[in-house]
Amino acid sequence: MDDFLNNTVPRREFLKVGAIAAGSTFALSSLLNGKALAETMKPATSKRLQEDMARLKQEIVDTLTPKDYSHLLGHVDGLSDNQLRQHFKLYENYINKTNLLNQLIRKADQEMLSGANPTYAPYREMLVELSYAHNGVVLHELYFGNLGHHGAPHKNLVAVIQGSFGSWENYLKHLMAAGKASRGWAITGFDMRDGHLRNYGLDQHNQWAPVHFYPILALDVYEHAYMIDFGTNRSQYLDVFVNNVNWEAVYNRLLFAVHHLMSGPAATD
Ligand SMILES: [Fe+2]
Repeated sequence: MDDFLNNTVPRREFLKVGAIAAGSTFALSSLLNGKALAETMKPATSKRLQEDMARLKQEIVDTLTPKDYSHLLGHVDGLSDNQLRQHFKLYENYINKTNLLNQLIRKADQEMLSGANPTYAPYREMLVELSYAHNGVVLHELYFGNLGHHGAPHKNLVAVIQGSFGSWENYLKHLMAAGKASRGWAITGFDMRDGHLRNYGLDQHNQWAPVHFYPILALDVYEHAYMIDFGTNRSQYLDVFVNNVNWEAVYNRLLFAVHHLMSGPAATD
């Protein structure tokens, strides 16, 4: 059970041993087979490319627009429409603040730039709050994006999780524990350095995020995510979340991370 905690497979080596190192019969390297990867990713890649291009255009002019998650209403068993609508409003606020901060930073005058310092300065405050607002946008898009589908996880996702956590059940136990232990977010991330999946917790949007992890699952454990429906009963909310995870979205993110890890030079070499 502790293999995944102790496994320190070097980045280049995990391609050869993949999840097998932790006892799985599945090799992560099979995901990297060109044909298999292309077949699996073709629809998602095309759609994602279009979305990324649209987002890139938005970012150039500092005008992010909120995504529409209304399709979730009535389709997340255990979460009310009111709970979700209130949450959507918070997400839209982060969009607005991100746009505002990007504009303010871009327009910073010479006095602001020359007065920057690490104790207190308007420029510093803008950078700090931008990291909070920006991550508030991205994390909520990950969260809403991995909600609302009730299909079974892809067998390859299950196999990779088994390779990193020992078993699917153990993964869920650790995810639930991370959800209870964190004040803001519990995340399952793909470690771009060694190809393993690990959970981590954030106390707020911009606090405690490890470097070089690509998030494939985001669980919002701020009280605002569940207080309307469950009061302070976070455990009940965690059960509802796990039963409503869109595992297809999670798997697509894993493929995205693996593909990008192998598509160019290693960033850490
Ligand atoms: Fe939230």
